[in-house]
Amino acid sequence: MIRYSKVLGTGGYLPAEIRTNAQISETVDTSDSWIFERTGIKNRHIAAPHESAASMAETAARQALEAANCDPSDIDLIIVATGTPEYVYPSTACLLQQRLGIKNAAAFDVQAACSGSIYALSIADQFIKSGGSKKALIIGTEICSRIVDWTDRGTCILFGDGAGAVLLGASDEAGVLSTHIHSDGEYENLLYCRNPQTTTAETQDDAGFINMRGNEVFKVAVNTLGRIVDETLEANNMAKEDIDWLVPHQANIRIIMATAKKLKMSMDQVVVTLENQGNTSSASVLLAFNEAVRDGRIKRGQVVLLEAFGAGFTWGSALIKY
Ligand code: COA
Repeated sequence: MIRYSKVLGTGGYLPAEIRTNAQISETVDTSDSWIFERTGIKNRHIAAPHESAASMAETAARQALEAANCDPSDIDLIIVATGTPEYVYPSTACLLQQRLGIKNAAAFDVQAACSGSIYALSIADQFIKSGGSKKALIIGTEICSRIVDWTDRGTCILFGDGAGAVLLGASDEAGVLSTHIHSDGEYENLLYCRNPQTTTAETQDDAGFINMRGNEVFKVAVNTLGRIVDETLEANNMAKEDIDWLVPHQANIRIIMATAKKLKMSMDQVVVTLENQGNTSSASVLLAFNEAVRDGRIKRGQVVLLEAFGAGFTWGSALIKY
């Protein structure tokens, strides 16, 4: 009998503080219209000083558990995707495990930058399909605002904070249809954030902040996401018309529109949260998925394509029958 992993519940969390384009324009040479026209972003959420990747993950996780009517003690696998962990170790997944009072589970983090939640979903799906897990919690949680250089107008306009969660459970009914993850380490210099404490002496200068050659990243992202869409459809013997919803990583509206065009999808079938959240890195796809599930756009039985692209470069997709 084929075992699937199925989405049992979703959750999300956005910090209360909202930072507008106008506010950013007060500190760097940019404008609301430039940011909105080039990126599609108007606002982003900023975590409060007391918040952490783990605290935001907890709120998102509890929502997903509640949506699925699942007791934390039933969780046997916790995978957290984050590029902004509070600790080097223990992992954010272990901190979350403690917060949720879960005793018997494997918990670990994955680092795949903005593609992290797709990587985590893919790993959890393999565990469930092979019988290694029955209920897995997948979280993307990021405090990008703490690794953004707020004097760099090329990056500080883009990023925001938040956490998204998905609870997957073993099922005989179709759920996750396929996942596809890839990376190419050749592109280190186009997008990176060095750890200031562990990087070499020669590379201390820009350590601790997101560095990006935005225009070059943009071009690779558009091409790569086009390819992953083809790969996903082919693997499932599906046509473009079989997809009901596209839930893309929220980096730039022009990248999202290029992927939608490739799929011949109307923007009405694309979940866009970018305008009010910016790029929340590994949290973005799960936050968008959660939003569209909760507001009733994504319905049970529909086919949803999740995709992401990030530093590394890393990229991936998940095709889900919700
Ligand atoms: N406000 C005003 N002008 C800005 C600006 C800002 N915030 N940021 C850059 N500019 C300027 C540049 O200095 C440049 O000026 P010049 O022509 O005088 O040299 C001009 O705008 C064009 O810069 P460019 O970098 O080519 O702009 P762009 O259209 O590529 O937009 C990004 C910049 C960052 C919005 C865009 O490249 C992008 O979104 N890239 C992908 C980012 C991404 O997806 N990252 C995460 C992957 S997970």
